[in-house]
Amino acid sequence: MTMREASAFAPVNIALAKYWGKRDARLNLPTNGSISVTLDGLGSETRVKFDETLSEDVLILNGEEIRSSESLRKISIVLDELRSIASARASARACPARVPSARACPARVSSRNNFPTAAGLASSASGLAALTLAASRALDLDLSSTKLSEIARRGSGSACRSFFGGFVEWKRGELADGADSVATQLQPASHWDLRALIAVIDDAPKDASSTGGMTATQATSPYFRTWVESAQTSLGPIRNAIAARDFAALAAAAEENCLRMHACAMAASPPIVYWKPQTLAIQRLVREMRANGIDAFFTIDAGPNVVVISTAAHAAEIRARLAASGVTRLLEAKLGEGTRSS
Ligand code: PMV
Repeated sequence: MTMREASAFAPVNIALAKYWGKRDARLNLPTNGSISVTLDGLGSETRVKFDETLSEDVLILNGEEIRSSESLRKISIVLDELRSIASARASARACPARVPSARACPARVSSRNNFPTAAGLASSASGLAALTLAASRALDLDLSSTKLSEIARRGSGSACRSFFGGFVEWKRGELADGADSVATQLQPASHWDLRALIAVIDDAPKDASSTGGMTATQATSPYFRTWVESAQTSLGPIRNAIAARDFAALAAAAEENCLRMHACAMAASPPIVYWKPQTLAIQRLVREMRANGIDAFFTIDAGPNVVVISTAAHAAEIRARLAASGVTRLLEAKLGEGTRSS
């Protein structure tokens, strides 16, 4: 019997080498590779139910129906891809009765983030990854993590990295169809006991979405080409620092990558500035801590919040110093495993 309903959990991932630019906007193929860490425990729990009585896909996020066309577009891209695989398989199995329903059947997607919404963490990566696994299970498709990751990427680029635990690389790839632009695990979470401390500065919706911000940067920043070259060049040192567990080298390369991404966005026209005064104050504090022998570096996505990465041994000290500097909301996570059925 075909299952019509299934759930999955997908973790948040934080990029140490950022995805910022699309070489193909329709397929969500990046201009440059990226490397992330997968966080333990923080993520999205998503239930998908295919339901012939619906007239279109429905998205419920944290108990509220979402009508934003951007969010609905992202989930429907993923669902359409999976519905078309299901219908192709059904016709190959000479089961024509199921073909129209698999192709057209709308889904109700109910997703919950287990981190406070006020954390200001992007939920699109974990949400789209969980949706992809849950919908594939509901349609009885037994797809590899690599295939699932490729499908999730179509909805949100960074979602492709959430399928794997620990340290993950999403390759830029060269092929026009994106077959070689896939995410793979570089090292499991057990390789290196790092911590992510997320300093929440502002939970208001960000001024520009990631997609809007990266598209505008690409179109108008005179530094975009240099950013792409530099981002590609930073991958080797970041990969090597992770393999060697060389914290100082990872700190230098990841902060440089982050600041170059933001510098490139700030040079767009009109400028894209995600930072608030406290974003800068924490950067300074982190650099001071590092100069004083504490293992800490920062990274910042398309928003004002700062993620401080540290070794396990130094996490408590950093937490105390961030609190003393006025950070009132702080989330902490170890590195963990990738997306799983639930
Ligand atoms: O996957 P998107 O479209 O939400 O873009 C993610 C962009 C950054 O978070 C800034 C960088 C990254 O690699 O996650």
